[in-house]
Amino acid sequence: MAAKLLALLMMLLSLGQQNVDAYVNQMNLGGNLFLVNREYTVSSDYVPNDLVKPDVPMTNNDIKMRAEAAAALEDMFSAAKDEAGYTLVAVSGYRSYGQQSAIYERKIKNAGKKAAALLVAPPGASEHQLGLAMDLGCKKNTSLTESFVNTPEGQWVAENCWRFGFIIRYKEEWTDITGYAYEPWHVRYVGREHAERIYQLDIPFEYYVAQLREAQFAAILGKE
Ligand code: DAL
Ligand code: ZN
Repeated sequence: MAAKLLALLMMLLSLGQQNVDAYVNQMNLGGNLFLVNREYTVSSDYVPNDLVKPDVPMTNNDIKMRAEAAAALEDMFSAAKDEAGYTLVAVSGYRSYGQQSAIYERKIKNAGKKAAALLVAPPGASEHQLGLAMDLGCKKNTSLTESFVNTPEGQWVAENCWRFGFIIRYKEEWTDITGYAYEPWHVRYVGREHAERIYQLDIPFEYYVAQLREAQFAAILGKE
């Protein structure tokens, strides 16, 4: 164990400060690869410091995302329009801890605790608090229901969002892993390179992050 730690330390030192920072920052709070779910939560006072309003059609005037994700969202909306003639609509982006808490409580009241658990994240456990998630709709359907996947716009998002750095975070077959029902409308920004890889691998974000950590530590320890 001591030898491994020493090797890790030597390797980190030899990587150079810039590479170590890049590696650490990606997966830390504030990085695009930060994993949030019921197990890995965000503190109640976390608010991203670069929230902006994307220049896209939206259902209300106060929808925000982190700057890099917002720019990618604008590119995606433009491509949907230019390539296919579709108008996507932003429905819900950044949500504070308090807003998530209100949505969660309301869902419990309306649907019961068991059903609510499959549909809404408890406060602190939502990617929306990261400012890296967006719920999408189209002109005819902003209801955030499964029916979105049957619209041409929903199909387009499923097939193309990776090109802009987004993943479909909650696929039907991943409910046991993610803990949530199918959400074809919820996209999560992870950056172009990782979104492409996740799309190709077709695995939940939980698995991707685990693989990445393993691979990076193996590389750091020289065990590739
Ligand atoms: N509906 C997703 C799981 C959320 O509330 O973040
Ligand atoms: Zn969502």
